[in-house]
Amino acid sequence: TIPLIIDTDPGVDDAFALALAARSPEVDLLGVTTVFGNVSIEHTTRNAQRLLALLGSDAPVARGAARAISSPQHDARHVHGDDGLSGMALTLPANDRIDPRDAVEFLRDTIDSSAEPVTIAAIGPLTNIARLLETHAGRIGRLVVMGGGIEGGNVTSAAEFNIWSDAEAAHRVLAEGPVLVPIDLTRRCAVDGAWLESLTGVVGRTLAGLTPRYREFYLEANGIDGILVHDAVAVAEAVRPGMLGTRRRMLGVDTSEGVGRGALVSGGFGVEVAEEVDVEGLRGFLLERLSG
Ligand code: BDR
Ligand code: CA
Repeated sequence: TIPLIIDTDPGVDDAFALALAARSPEVDLLGVTTVFGNVSIEHTTRNAQRLLALLGSDAPVARGAARAISSPQHDARHVHGDDGLSGMALTLPANDRIDPRDAVEFLRDTIDSSAEPVTIAAIGPLTNIARLLETHAGRIGRLVVMGGGIEGGNVTSAAEFNIWSDAEAAHRVLAEGPVLVPIDLTRRCAVDGAWLESLTGVVGRTLAGLTPRYREFYLEANGIDGILVHDAVAVAEAVRPGMLGTRRRMLGVDTSEGVGRGALVSGGFGVEVAEEVDVEGLRGFLLERLSG
């Protein structure tokens, strides 16, 4: 089994991603670290705790960064709702177990005490991971990052949310040569209403129940009848390495204060960009793992 830590800002698609990790026998979920992003750190941490309770996982949650290294504060409440989970967070089982360590300390300790290299799936702003790399570069196993847009962004015309939320941190993380799962690929993996309807069991139905507000956003803002499960696509690659086809590109992040801030720029570091996916295969895999 692959030891795995998820760094996350739940977030509706983060919820799907956490469920996939918790329900995949290929991985041992060693913990979940939280970061600000879709909503405040208070909300993302509470959401992670409650989602793990729903999933019956005893993986520890360690709270991380409340803000970016140097970007101004923004969130995505208009996409994920004020509580980050479409207004449904408090319907999930309560859970107040929290690891006393800060996310970066938790990551360090867990990586150091693992016999096998630990995979990190980073599915929020990259602040915690950049901080970890200040002292632990080279000790991490695989690093799979959901973020970036090759052909443009989703927050500005150039920038994708996770990268834009902490551009300096993202630039540092790209220097590690991660697998980068960009929105160009996750957009091709949208799931529609029928797919959501076919999720079964307590977990599957609860996940579907988190989506109405998020679904409205995609319909209104993007004309998509369905939702994007960005983060679950990245976690699928962490769970089953090779599920996505990658191509090496030289990339960095625009950390200027201009209109391009947070965009991927060519040059910089060698990054494995996920560009190919068997879309039907992935949808079937998620459906099977998240149901029952
Ligand atoms: C990313 O931004 C967040 O809103 C999602 O949870 C995902 O991690 C997609 O751009
Ligand atoms: Ca996320």
